[in-house]
Amino acid sequence: MDQNSIEYFITGIPKAELHLHIEGTFEPELMFEIANRNKLTIKYQSVDELKAAYQFNNLQEFLDIYYSGADVLIEEQDFYDLTWAYLLKIHAQNVLHTELFFDPQTHSSRDVAFSKVISGIHRALEDGREKLGISSRLILSILRHLSEKSAFEALQEALEFKEWITAVGLDSSEKGHPPSKFERVFAQARKEDFLTVAHAGEEGPPEYVWEALNLLQVSRIDHGNRSLEDPGLVVELVKRRMPLTVCPLSNLKLKVIQDMTNHPLARMLEKGMIATVNSDDPAYFGGYMNENYLAVAKALNLSKEQIAQLAKNSFEASFLGEKEKQEMVEKVERFYQEHKN
Ligand code: HPA
Ligand code: ZN
Repeated sequence: MDQNSIEYFITGIPKAELHLHIEGTFEPELMFEIANRNKLTIKYQSVDELKAAYQFNNLQEFLDIYYSGADVLIEEQDFYDLTWAYLLKIHAQNVLHTELFFDPQTHSSRDVAFSKVISGIHRALEDGREKLGISSRLILSILRHLSEKSAFEALQEALEFKEWITAVGLDSSEKGHPPSKFERVFAQARKEDFLTVAHAGEEGPPEYVWEALNLLQVSRIDHGNRSLEDPGLVVELVKRRMPLTVCPLSNLKLKVIQDMTNHPLARMLEKGMIATVNSDDPAYFGGYMNENYLAVAKALNLSKEQIAQLAKNSFEASFLGEKEKQEMVEKVERFYQEHKN
């Protein structure tokens, strides 16, 4: 690879991932392997047939396939294998820190115990730290299409594993399920000392971003693209230095944008918003971290300085301690200085 190329720069720069659904890293090959050992069938005949089904017109069409893929995850080892495969991928991409979502309700609805899900994920994350040097945080994500009652049950189950979970998030079908639906659940989560984040402004309106800020008191907005439609909201996000975890290939695959050249990332940076680049559901959207950086950098003609800014933002917006954040940001700056020309 040409050492002056954007590809080389993106591949090498140290970075953190802050928006990643572990169930969305389920590659078709592993899905078939786990289905076989659990003696379950997938409704597609082959890996190629399954991959061919990954064409989505909106968030809901994706979610239907994503939830059916997760149906073959049963044992603690399945969750370990899923997480370990993801860690190996990002290790090869110079991702030094990751904060990942898991959806316990997707599994509890199939009678897979919360303890199995979290133990498998946690064990892989521990191995990731010891063997790969990747630090991590875990975010329990609430499925917003389900009831408040179900959300409270998931939160209750999490309490036993509190030391393994940093934050509570909100995902799944956005339209018609505003953050206000979960105001009381998130108040309880904060009372239990969890940080909070929420998907907002992916398909939903800017009002949902306001609700996430004011009612759920989030530390980050996941996606947040539609914030740009409300100038007052942009001012507020900049003033609060509120990070947005942006997912370029996800936006393209789910038709949040029509073309990568229309992606709002450059506008967000120009306005002083703390945007980051993330992969969301890489097995479904055609790329992990570096593919996301590369797709958006090429389409928007981002400079090495802007890419370094995005990588710095990823550590600044993380849930690492202040000292670790500073060390990581310095690492990014050193890489930038050594490779900027
Ligand atoms: N949006 C909402 N819910 C999700 C997503 C997403 O991009 N990925 C997995 N669950
Ligand atoms: Zn997401």
